[in-house]
Amino acid sequence: MAKETLTITDNRTGKQYEIAVDDGVIRADDLKQIKTAADDPGIMAYDPSFGNTASCKSRISYIDGDKGILRYRGYDIAELAEKSTYLETAYLIVKGELPDKHHLSMWQHNITIHTMVHENIKKLMEGFRHDAHPMGMMVGTIGALSTFYPEAKDIDSLESRRLQTRRLIGKVPTLAAYAYRHSKGLPYVYPDNDLSYTGNFLQMMFRMTERHYRPNPVLERALDVLFILHADHEQNCSANAVRSVGSSHVDPYSAVAAGVAALYGPLHGGANEAVIRMLQQIGSVDKVPEAIRKFKAGDGRLMGFGHRIYKNYDPRGKIIKKLAYEVFEATGKNPLIDIALELERIALEDDYFVKRKLYPNVDFYSGIIYQAMGFPVNTFPVLFAIPRTSGWMAQWAEMVRDPEQRISRPRQVYIGESERTYEPIETRRAPLTREDAVDAAI
Ligand code: ACO
Repeated sequence: MAKETLTITDNRTGKQYEIAVDDGVIRADDLKQIKTAADDPGIMAYDPSFGNTASCKSRISYIDGDKGILRYRGYDIAELAEKSTYLETAYLIVKGELPDKHHLSMWQHNITIHTMVHENIKKLMEGFRHDAHPMGMMVGTIGALSTFYPEAKDIDSLESRRLQTRRLIGKVPTLAAYAYRHSKGLPYVYPDNDLSYTGNFLQMMFRMTERHYRPNPVLERALDVLFILHADHEQNCSANAVRSVGSSHVDPYSAVAAGVAALYGPLHGGANEAVIRMLQQIGSVDKVPEAIRKFKAGDGRLMGFGHRIYKNYDPRGKIIKKLAYEVFEATGKNPLIDIALELERIALEDDYFVKRKLYPNVDFYSGIIYQAMGFPVNTFPVLFAIPRTSGWMAQWAEMVRDPEQRISRPRQVYIGESERTYEPIETRRAPLTREDAVDAAI
């Protein structure tokens, strides 16, 4: 049988090295032995943006980007979207197995009893400007939770990790709804624990004067499915942020706040918001060819298209596209769907997109559904952050328990000035002009 090793010849020295291949990867540390002299620190791998670097071993999500496969703990995303609920899927993601009836009911209870937030958190949220972006409010308030639960610092305690996980999953919908109500100048609505996870979230968002809010069951289920689809996605930008910040052994609220901040960006969870703005800007189906021409010329990107890992259709995109029509049955059609369909049709036939393997991702259709359900555009990334909290906590806990993980500390290739002597200001030459400056960008 062939050996599971790699032989590397260093042409600078003529030396050969045999390096172990384990699970299809080599250890970057093994490259350190390849050196030209005793004081040479050895070869490093240069991988900006982690294009081909595994930062951890994980058992949570599996993605095959070429085949368009996504599985949580081995279960196919399409099957979970059809048969599971968000809270059951969150249990699976966090604990590794699907619960039986008893454990599911305990889990639901344990999450539900944590839906309320301290009144001071409410006051803190009142301090934000009336037009504060809800994601900015989420970053701030989730970070602030760490000051309310100082015992969360005890990251080595299983009981503490469990408690913070339940608290966070329970509280994020409340914080998200408060952020929205704040922007509208509406009174905050307290949780109703008789409702489901998504039903309660809908009532905290949209309840007005009715004594008992009854969520539309179609929208409640559609939101639940969307939450399942967004629950985890292995080592993406925000999961990496949670792991990296958490690797300093800070409490999980601070680590998750970093994840929310990462998700806020338009290249990540902000993309569904950007998709709607793009569709509105295009305005009508007949303007689509012109818009495609612009994207191809590098004038903006076709938002909701492309993915670092999926080089085939994003499996979540397929489910969401179908879901859109179920939601439209209840809400009426979102007119932006026609523009989206035309964009997809043309892009999937166009050489530019085909060659670069750019397909609709999870965000291409999710915003259209959220908008039809009555969510304002700036709450879309928040609707991503709520379900992703279970994924972040699972990633965080896996990192904390992994004996191979130390504080995240990437290396760099230094390309700046070599040693210089400090010149007194009196004799220093004139300050650099903007153009001269190496870092003119700032
Ligand atoms: N529209 C037009 N061109 C694109 C797009 C797009 N949406 N995405 C990538 N390209 C082009 C790039 O210009 C580049 O072309 P080039 O080779 O001629 O320079 C090539 O495709 C590769 O693009 P990269 O940016 O190198 O790909 P990367 O893997 O780094 O980026 C990303 C992935 C960020 C998702 C990118 O496709 C993108 O910006 N898409 C739009 C934003 C979006 O929808 N983000 C949501 C991602 S899913 C999620 O976070 C849940």
